[in-house]
Amino acid sequence: MRRALVAANWKMNGTKAKVTELLAAFKEGISTDNMDAAVFAPFVYLPMTEEGLSGTGIAWGGQCSYTAESGAFTGETSLAMLKEFGCQYVLVGHSERRTLFGETNEVVADKVAAALEQGVCPMLCIGETLEERESGITEKVVKEQIDAVIAKVGIEGLGKSVIAYEPVWAIGTGKTATPEQAQETHAYIRKMISEHDTNVAENIQILYGGSVKAASAKELFSQPDIDGGLVGGASLIAEEFVAICAAAG
Ligand code: 13P
Repeated sequence: MRRALVAANWKMNGTKAKVTELLAAFKEGISTDNMDAAVFAPFVYLPMTEEGLSGTGIAWGGQCSYTAESGAFTGETSLAMLKEFGCQYVLVGHSERRTLFGETNEVVADKVAAALEQGVCPMLCIGETLEERESGITEKVVKEQIDAVIAKVGIEGLGKSVIAYEPVWAIGTGKTATPEQAQETHAYIRKMISEHDTNVAENIQILYGGSVKAASAKELFSQPDIDGGLVGGASLIAEEFVAICAAAG
C-alpha cells in the first residue's frame, strides 16, 4: 500500500518572518501519522527549516541541486550541502527549471542520478504544456521525460524516486486538472512504468501538482493512482496547506 505524500514547494517566496510563521503552523497542524509531508524551501531558509521541522515527522528538501560535489560552479548548490542541512528530498526538473533555466531531459536525468548517488530522494517533476496537451501528445511527452531518467539510472533508480506529475498549464493558473484528467495521466504513467517493472509501478508514489487547493485536494487524492500532491501557491497559506495534508491523511 502506497503512503500519501504532500509536499510544499515555496518556490522563490518568503521572508524570515513568513517562513517562521509557516513552519510553526505546519509543526502544530500537520499529523504525519497516516501520511508523509515535506517542505521545499528556498536555499537560504533551509537552516531555519531544519530548525523548525526537526523532531516533527515532516521532511524537507531543496528545490534544485547541481551534480558536482563541490567546485567552481558559481550560484549552484551541491547535494552534500543539502544533506548537511538535513534534506531528505530534492526537486528535480520542475517545469520552471525546464522552461526558464533550460534544463533538458538529459540534464534532469543527470540530476536524478546525482541525487540517488548521494542518498537524497529525487522528486522528479514531469508534465506537458498546454500546446502539447491540445496536440494530443501528453502521453508521449511524459513518457520521454521518464524514459530519459530510466535510461540513466535504470528502473531501480526510478523506483527510489518520487514522481510529481504537474501539467504546466495547471501551474499557478488556478486551472486544476480535473480529477479524471489527472487520474488518466497518472494511470498511464504507472502503466508505462509497469512495462519495465510491475513492482516499481505498484510502489512508486506519483503526486499531482498544479493549483491544488484545500477545496480540490480530497477528490484528487481519492483517485486510485494519485498518491498526494506537490503544492505551490496554497503552501504559502498555512491553513490551506495544513488542510491539504489532512485531506491525504
Ligand atoms: P501551484 O500550486 O501554485 O499551481 O504550483 C504548483 C507547482 O508548481 C508545485 O511545484
